[in-house]
Amino acid sequence: MTQPTANPSTPIILTGDRPTGPLHLGHFVGSLRNRVAYQDTYRQFVMLADSQALTDNMDDIGKVHRNVVEVALDYLAVGIDPAKTTILIQSQIPELTELTFYYLNLVTVARLERNPTVKQEIILRGFERDIPAGFLTYPASQAADITAFKASVVPVGEDQIPMIEQCNEIVRKFNRNAGRDILVECKAIVPEVGRLPGTDGKAKMSKSLGNTINLGASADEIRAAVKMVYTDPLHLKVSDPGHLEGNVAFIYLDAFDPDKEGVAAMKEHYTRGGLGDSVVKKRLEGVLQEMLAPIRARREEFAKDRGQVLQILKEGTARAREIAAVTTDEVKKALGLSYF
Ligand code: TRP
Repeated sequence: MTQPTANPSTPIILTGDRPTGPLHLGHFVGSLRNRVAYQDTYRQFVMLADSQALTDNMDDIGKVHRNVVEVALDYLAVGIDPAKTTILIQSQIPELTELTFYYLNLVTVARLERNPTVKQEIILRGFERDIPAGFLTYPASQAADITAFKASVVPVGEDQIPMIEQCNEIVRKFNRNAGRDILVECKAIVPEVGRLPGTDGKAKMSKSLGNTINLGASADEIRAAVKMVYTDPLHLKVSDPGHLEGNVAFIYLDAFDPDKEGVAAMKEHYTRGGLGDSVVKKRLEGVLQEMLAPIRARREEFAKDRGQVLQILKEGTARAREIAAVTTDEVKKALGLSYF
């Protein structure tokens, strides 16, 4: 199977996810629905970054293993089409590990320690002084992921922009040393719709905070989650004027309700007073149920045949490996590491 958009002049786009849990509405807004659109205009690679996930999950290897298929099911359920997008498993492409090893000589420990994404994640994970070396150096591995496929476009969340900057530093250093442009610099694109807050109103929707709505959520789970959605703590009586700022019910309606005029009218009524939270939540529940029902149905359909899902991953990985091998060969030649 070849990608139908395998025209050599079509820009290559690459993204990835660490498979550590099922994907949720935050992923849907931030990346998944864009990938469904990108696959028609770019040559798209989507990576299940299982090796990268191990850099902070060595104490729970099973979690990473289990979630590779779960995340692949989420991809297929939202409409990422394996005939258009190459879905690959990072750990099954040894060339990515090989490139990482060479790139590590093009970054300093001090530069890695200054990478804002890494710094932030070290705090979040409470590593303090016991930072796994593999974690500290994962920007080099991410540079390997991107450059192996000569991706020129990398859609990422805002928090990942420093990773792209560091990747481009590696590319420039490498090309300068080689005296030729072997590796390709890439451009980060950040989705227009910003980060989706959690159902509890916290800035980020995240599995560890327990404030997600998963793409595979059942109708009952969606109903229960919407009931708990954070609104306006000052809106006690229906007649009180309500506030929109930080109001998750309205933020979700803005993100998912196709009827923008209906939402605008509802906002006007809410801020004027006289509109209860239950009415807003009822609308939100309807919107989410309608949007997630077909995704859930497709997910269940694919989940019936895991063998087929694994076959899709196997074929995508094999196709990706061929490309990564060509780049690795070029890199090794440029480094003088070729003898026969
Ligand atoms: N670091 C990314 C994340 O945490 C996942 C990832 C791995 C990635 N390799 C990548 C993203 C290459 C873009 C390009 O979500």
